[in-house]
Amino acid sequence: MSNIALLGTQWGDEGKGKIIDLLTPYFDIVARWQGGHNAGHTVNIKGKEIILHLVPSGILCEDKKCVIGNGLVIDPEALLREIRYLEELGYNVRKNLLISDRAHLIFPHHRRCEDFTEGLRGKKKIDTTSRGIGPAYESKYAREGLRVIDLMNPAVLREKIHSLSDMVNRRFLEPCGLKPLDREALLVQYAAYGDDLREFIVDTSLFLNQEMDKGKSILFEGAQGTQLDIDHGTYPYVTSSSAVVGGACTGLGIGPTRIDGVLGVSKAYTTRVGAGPFPTELSDRNSASILERGHEYGATTGRERRCGWLDMVVLKYACRINHIDSLALTKLDVLDTFEDISICIGYCYKNSVIRDFPAESWILEACTPQYTTVKGWKADTSSLKEFTDLPEKAKDYIKKIEDLVETEVGLISTGAERDQTIIRKDSRLSRWTA
Ligand code: GDP
Ligand code: IMO
Ligand code: MG
Repeated sequence: MSNIALLGTQWGDEGKGKIIDLLTPYFDIVARWQGGHNAGHTVNIKGKEIILHLVPSGILCEDKKCVIGNGLVIDPEALLREIRYLEELGYNVRKNLLISDRAHLIFPHHRRCEDFTEGLRGKKKIDTTSRGIGPAYESKYAREGLRVIDLMNPAVLREKIHSLSDMVNRRFLEPCGLKPLDREALLVQYAAYGDDLREFIVDTSLFLNQEMDKGKSILFEGAQGTQLDIDHGTYPYVTSSSAVVGGACTGLGIGPTRIDGVLGVSKAYTTRVGAGPFPTELSDRNSASILERGHEYGATTGRERRCGWLDMVVLKYACRINHIDSLALTKLDVLDTFEDISICIGYCYKNSVIRDFPAESWILEACTPQYTTVKGWKADTSSLKEFTDLPEKAKDYIKKIEDLVETEVGLISTGAERDQTIIRKDSRLSRWTA
């Protein structure tokens, strides 16, 4: 059996949640490697919409173990809220969820710190999800963070919360005129979280490696997307973790040769929520149609997503950075009514055309996309089950994408429900699900 990493190729919200839920039956375990409750992964099952933030989207399939890896930052209150929500819906979270002892914790001051810094940035704000994600990773890399395992030992927790409070109060809250942390209250609060989470906590790297040694297969779940990755994204308008495939190794404690394949998820167009460069962004009636037909509102914050045409410079870059074997193309149905559909094939900047995604943010902001335009298929694709049933012009659109990125489109999604999906018979992806 193969172990496959699934990740976003754009700026997040590509439809990863739906695809993970769909593919979970073909794997034994689903393991998430980074991010926190900034993610919002939507799964639709028979008309019911379920949004996952921290818990892997595999939790909705019975009897599949789901792992929250060491690479995540966890707000215990948000996690416990999500566990309760899933339990109320009837899912057996207690039996199936495992949380890494090495994952880092989000504290209330992380969120306050983030809001304060975003305020200072003014017009240059990143427009984060305001969940404390960035500051929690800052604490981790400053070697001042607390980890899940610290919740398990009262003496250690007391000592660490005391020194954390002293440090944060003296260095940040007091000089900024903000209310200092009440260390005793924090201790009581986090000790209680520890009691509630104790049963889920294990060495998840040990668990995953032992299971793989026994021949069990894993679907590695990415959050956010390649363009939000801390190293490879549109820095500084990114999130603070490794959303690219390399993050799966550090974020789960697995070796790179354990990953047998990489599945990239891409919308049939592009969206972005939050600030930062977005070369193919539209502000015309096409953007309004995508917004309305795609219902492009953030699953975590409800913010309107910025919309634009599919950007092959972005997609080609994601294929390279992650060495993607197969693409899942989602939301094709959203384009069903369009007369013409444009695809960006390069960025025009000062008399030259750029085809490889540039590091220079000023180029991204000043360039104009070079488009090739294809005729729309103007037919309903939302109930089609076979690739051969797709309108010829839709097939042409997919073929053009494959040619431009030199990567197969192995899966096409034409609706939010599980059964609104076409898996191509001769694709690599079909071999992973055989
Ligand atoms: P994720 O963060 O990558 O999991 O994506 P989100 O859940 O944030 O956003 C994707 C949205 O598109 C969700 O509302 C999904 O229910 C919806 N969706 C996923 N695939 C399709 C599709 O093929 N067609 C349509 N119309 N909606 C889809
Ligand atoms: P999923 O997993 C889309 C964006 C935020 C902001 C930037 C930094 O659902 O695809 P952060 O709070 O992470 O420090 O914000 O990243 N962002 C996402 N955009 N989908 C997500 O996750 C995102 N997670 C963070 O809007 O621009
Ligand atoms: Mg999302």
